[in-house]
Amino acid sequence: MSGIIHAGAGISPEQAAVEQKLVDTVIASFDKTQDPRLKKVMQSLTRHLHNFVREVRLTEDEWNTGIEFLTAAGHITDDKRQEFILLSDVLGLSMQTVAINNKAYKGATEATVFGPFFIEDASEIPLGGDIAGGAHGQPCWVEGTITDTSGNPVPGARIEVWEADEDGFYDVQYADARVAGRAYLYADDHGRYSFWGRTPTPYPIPHDGPVGKMLEAAGRSPVRTSHLHFMVTAHGLRTLVTHIFVEGDPQIEIGDSVFGVKDSLIKRFEPQPAGTPTPDGRDLGNQTWARTRFDVVLAPALA
Ligand code: BEZ
Ligand code: FE
Repeated sequence: MSGIIHAGAGISPEQAAVEQKLVDTVIASFDKTQDPRLKKVMQSLTRHLHNFVREVRLTEDEWNTGIEFLTAAGHITDDKRQEFILLSDVLGLSMQTVAINNKAYKGATEATVFGPFFIEDASEIPLGGDIAGGAHGQPCWVEGTITDTSGNPVPGARIEVWEADEDGFYDVQYADARVAGRAYLYADDHGRYSFWGRTPTPYPIPHDGPVGKMLEAAGRSPVRTSHLHFMVTAHGLRTLVTHIFVEGDPQIEIGDSVFGVKDSLIKRFEPQPAGTPTPDGRDLGNQTWARTRFDVVLAPALA
C-alpha cells in the first residue's frame, strides 16, 4: 500500500522513493505476523508513524526531544501515576477510543473518559447515603433512574460514583490512606437511585510532569471541567463509564483538558439556599446545598 507523501513541496522524486521504499519494507516485515489483528495494527501503525515524520519533516533534534519526552513519561509513571494514559487523554486519544468502542445507540446515555482516579476499594452506601467520607465541598443531592433503552427500569444496577473534593484532589492523591468522595450503591426495585455527593468544582489534571510541560508549551490549560464520575453496570446491558458536568461552569467554554464534555452530560445543579428543606430531611444547618438529576439509559450489552 502506498503512503500519502509524494514528491513535490521540496521533496525530489528520488528522495520520496527512498522514503517510500523504507515504509514498504517495514510494513512488509510484519507480513508473516500470525495474529491477523496484530498484523493489521502494526502495519497501520507503521504507515501512520512514517507519514507523520515525513509530513512534518521531523529533525533529528526533534526526534531526540520526543524520545526524552517519552523517557520522562516512563520515569514518572508508577502504580499510582500513569503519564502515558494522561498523554492519551490530552491528545484526545482516550476519548476517540471511547467513541469507537461505545457506539452511539438510540437514547442511551453517552460515555466519556474513565480517568485515573477510580479504585475498587470504595464502600457501599445505602440509597440516599453520603459518598463524602470527609471530603470537603458543598453538599449536593444527586438522584435519577437507571433504565434500558425501552424505558424499563433496571433494578439492582450497580452505580459507582467518584469525585474530587473542593480543593481539586481525589482521595488517592493524598498521602494518607483515606477513602473519600467515592462509593457504590444499587438502584432500587424501580431503578431509582439517590445519594449525597459534593458539588463538583474544576481541578487540574496532574501537570507536574512531561504532559504538563507539553500543555504549557502549547498554551493549553490543564484544568478539567467540573464533573462527577459514574460507572453503571447491570446484567445484559452495556457498562457505562461517564461523568456529569455542571451547567454554567466557565470551564465548559474554555475547554476540558481531556475533551470529555458532551452536551448531553451537562446537567443543571440547582443551588439551594441555606435552610431549604432537603429531600431526605437531613439537617444541613446554615449550609447552602445543590441538587441535580441524572437519568441513565443503558444500551444493550451487544449493541
Ligand atoms: C479525571 O477525571 O479526574 C481525569 C481524567 C483524565 C485525566 C486526568 C484526570
Ligand atoms: Fe475526574
